[in-house]
Amino acid sequence: MLTGNEIREKFLQYFERHGHTRVRSSPLLPANDPTLLFTNAGMNQFKDVFLGIEKREYGRACSSQKCLRAGGKHNDLDEVGKTARHQTFFEMLGNFSFGDYFKEDAIKFAWDFLVNELKMDSRRLWFTVFEGDDQVGPDEDAERFWAQVGAPRERILRFSGKDNFWQMGETGPCGPCSEIHYYLGDDPQDPTKNRVDLVNGPGDTTMEIWNLVFMQYNRIEIEPGKYKLEPLPKPSVDTGLGLERTAVIMQGVKSNYETDLLKPIIDFAAELAVGK
Ligand code: ALA
Repeated sequence: MLTGNEIREKFLQYFERHGHTRVRSSPLLPANDPTLLFTNAGMNQFKDVFLGIEKREYGRACSSQKCLRAGGKHNDLDEVGKTARHQTFFEMLGNFSFGDYFKEDAIKFAWDFLVNELKMDSRRLWFTVFEGDDQVGPDEDAERFWAQVGAPRERILRFSGKDNFWQMGETGPCGPCSEIHYYLGDDPQDPTKNRVDLVNGPGDTTMEIWNLVFMQYNRIEIEPGKYKLEPLPKPSVDTGLGLERTAVIMQGVKSNYETDLLKPIIDFAAELAVGK
């Protein structure tokens, strides 16, 4: 069994071995960004790097970012307490490419880390890609790359922009994304249980664990309430793997709140509550 700390360290070391510079989590209050109240993703501290406004001495980075999703664009507050997998505060593991690698390597890294490093059962994994809309075509490249690394075709699904187009706020860097979902039920072989309709569907049996965003556009406001997508200087990658959700899988529990990252805090609060 891996502890939460071991999963975090394994992730960061894996991406360091693949040329990424380890970067510390930025504070929960984003510096110099009036578009965000709280840090909601690992990419926030790299926003200007994606936009080409800021240069760093590295083209690849990885981090474990403290995030708060209790308001704004990615608000999870209404889900907290109702599902086993939502928190307002959580840690997001991420690997980033600033004009270096793009979809193919992002997908190879994600598969390799989950299946070969963490030894997740690939029969439990599902993959989603952007189905396209009137501005951006369907993501056939991502479909092909998932199939190339070993994902069965029937487990690669298309979804709309609601799930598969990611933007940090009303404006800023954005792009189509591809998610990995994990079936937590008791029989990965049984199609009546490990069902396609549970992906982005009801309940906690199949949950999203990792989002790979193929950053390609800057969303800008051209007049109040009207937006336009402009290409970024270079196609880039931004990913987010939920640390607590990964710990659920690696620790064989059913809820984020049962992992070693959160359970001791709940136990401590419970002891105080009964006055021990
Ligand atoms: N920025 C992406 C997300 O938060 C990875 O899902």
